[in-house]
Formats: sequence, C-alpha cells, structure tokens
Amino acid sequence: MSGPHSGPRSLSESELIMGDPGPTGRFGEFGGRFVPESLVPACMELEASFRRAWIDPAFRRELDHLLHSYGGRPTPVTECLRLSEELGVRVLLKREDLAHTGSHKINNVVGQALLARRMGKKRLIAETGAGQHGVATATAAALFGMECVVYMGAVDMERQALNVFRMELLGAEVRSVESGSRTLKDAVNEALRDWVASVDTTHYCLGSVMGPHPYPWMVRELQRVVGDESRAQCREILDGKDPDVVVACAGGGSNAAGTFAGFADGTSSVLVGVEAAGGAAMHNGIPGVLHGMRSALMQDESGQILEAESISAGLDYPGIGPEHAHLAAIGRARYETAGDTEVVEAFQRLSKTEGIIPALESAHAVAWVIRVAGTEVLPTGSTVLITLSGRGDKDVAQVRDILRRGETTPR
Ligand SMILES: Cc1ncc(COP(=O)(O)O)c(C=O)c1O
Repeated sequence: MSGPHSGPRSLSESELIMGDPGPTGRFGEFGGRFVPESLVPACMELEASFRRAWIDPAFRRELDHLLHSYGGRPTPVTECLRLSEELGVRVLLKREDLAHTGSHKINNVVGQALLARRMGKKRLIAETGAGQHGVATATAAALFGMECVVYMGAVDMERQALNVFRMELLGAEVRSVESGSRTLKDAVNEALRDWVASVDTTHYCLGSVMGPHPYPWMVRELQRVVGDESRAQCREILDGKDPDVVVACAGGGSNAAGTFAGFADGTSSVLVGVEAAGGAAMHNGIPGVLHGMRSALMQDESGQILEAESISAGLDYPGIGPEHAHLAAIGRARYETAGDTEVVEAFQRLSKTEGIIPALESAHAVAWVIRVAGTEVLPTGSTVLITLSGRGDKDVAQVRDILRRGETTPR
C-alpha cells in the first residue's frame, strides 16, 4: 500500500488536497466564517497577518528556532517493538508527548503567540478541554510576557485539576464556565464572547482546526510540522516507504490535520482519524454551523447541539474541524471511533508494553489500532504510524479512579 514519495511541493497550493482554502476558507461545502458582524474585521485582519507572516522568512525562522530551542522539536518517531510483535503489525509512534508542555498543542500556540505579538496584541485568550491547550497558551504568554485568560468548563476543571494549577502557576487566569454541558463547547462560546468585547487588545488563540476562517487552515499549517517531520522520519525507518496507515485521534482535529497534511498529497497512506465514541461528529453528525464554521456536528432534528460524552476531556466536543468533514467527503481520510473501555485498556497496554503512558486522547488512536490489527483494514505485516498527541501524566489520577471504581477492568 505504500506510495512512492512524489514530492507534494511540486503541486500548486490550489491543487493540493490539504492546500490553501483561499479567502473564503471553504473546504468543499465546509468551513467558512460564520461570525457576528463585530468579529468579521478581526478574522480578516488575522487572516491577512497570517498570510504575510507565513511567507515571511524571518517569521518562519523565528518560529522554527523557538520550536526547536524551546519546544523540543523535532520530536522522534519511536518504533514499538513489543507491541508490534503482539499485534503482528509494525507500529511507529510520532512522539508529540515529548514536546514541551506534553502535547502537540505547543506547535500551534507558539505560532499564534508570535503572530499576536506581530499584530501588537498584548492579551491572549484561549479555550481548553483537557487543559493541554490552556497550559500551552499560558506557557507562550509567559514566554512573551502577555496577559492570559483561559476559559475552561467546570466539569473539565474538576477532571483536569492538575492542569488548572499548572496554568495558574504559569501566570494565567482560569475562568470556570458553568453554562451548557460545562465542557469544551461551552468554553469556546465564552472565549468567543470575550473576543467580541476585547478584540482591539486581544488575540483569541484557538486550540484546534475549528472555528471561523482562518483558524482551521492556520492551525493546520502550524501543526503541519508534525506530518512533515513524520513523513521524513518514517521514510528513514521504512527504507524510503510511507506507512500503510496513518492514525491520529480527533477532537477538533488539530493533531490529526497536522499529521495528515504531511501525507495527504503524494502518498497512498490510508489516513484515519479516531474520535471518541461519545463525541463522534463524523459518525453521528450532520452538517451545520457552530463556533463560526460549517462542519459535521452532533445535533438533533431541530438543530440543537447534542452533548458529547467521553472520558477524555480533549475529545469531548460535538463537532470536528471542517477540513476533516471535507477529507471524509472526498474519501481521502476515514473516521472511526473508540469507546471508553477499550481506550482505558489501550492506555494501560501501551504503558506496559512500551513504557509510554499516552494521553487518554491519544489512547483512542492506539485503541483503534489494537482493535483492527490483523484485519483487512490493517493486515498482518503492514505498517502503521500513530501520532501520540500527548503524554498521559494529566490522566493518571483519572484512570486510577476509573480502575478503582471498577468501571473498567485493569489489564
Ligand atoms: C493530548 C491531546 N490530544 C488531542 C487533543 C484533541 O485536540 P485535537 O483534535 O485538536 O488534536 C487534545 C485536546 O485537548 C489533547 O490534549
């Protein structure tokens, strides 16, 4: 199944599957910019600034330098010898858990903070679910001496208490969101509300490939480094070949989009995004508009957004970034789900076989690979790259409690 490397950069941006969506920010029928009148100029200013910065060699140099000297890039690709033997497939992990602050979120945030500084903004706001994006934003704010406010659902503040303290240690103010399901969706609403009122001084550092244009495209480009690095590293390990299957978990979908961007053009690698079974917008969703974008959303017949439900705060979102809806529509990526019990089992299995404790979010991708290894989707002898989006330290207490309560059986 491996495809030869035919050089994705030889195609023009508009010909690329994961290229520039242009000024409308449309990915097929998805994406766009559905925001209140007061935010349209802010989104347009942000798009123009990002376009200028992204082709400015000085900006790119500074970003690369920071991601290297501060963020710990490049992260390695690790071959899982024991798990591979058990599953009969060759498993490689892209180790975003080893990036500074413990997840891929730092890639996006350092880029957006640099951009905010360039735009003269002195205050960063962010939403967070698992807390990783909030921690990354608080970190970048500390690095650049900016004020930082993070919106977080009250439910998530409870299950990710350690990350709340971490953000406070880093100098950020964490605001508890008590509306709706008190999780990620509601935190995004509050952050957007803040931005409407503070747009002159504030940059909204959105944490995934969602929201109004330019965020889905901009965040994907800032996360592309994960896919570009992986592609080169895999070719070294696999004697010039690409992995047969490339898998990443998907909440809003930024680690998946960044990973897929390295493989979507010029390879025949099968791209698989794994959502939480209780937050599976690609499986249970229908097209609609939320948080400034048109995408696949979990909603009832009258368009009311349904609550997502997952043990993993970072995947507890009733939507997915619009480019994923498009990649599914054109058949370039497929989307699968993993349930809480198999995720907790995968969390333990990777810990025991490889000495790597994954984030619960990333454990969704691992769980799917464990389930399908040896089937026609992932035949014996094939190669699979999993993006390990983050480390599991933040989830250890939660998993301990789940296992103690016997909600799932220890392995
Ligand atoms: C470690 C980790 N992985 C994945 C996600 C999901 O985000 P995305 O789908 O944007 O990668 C999160 C979100 O908080 C996270 O913390």
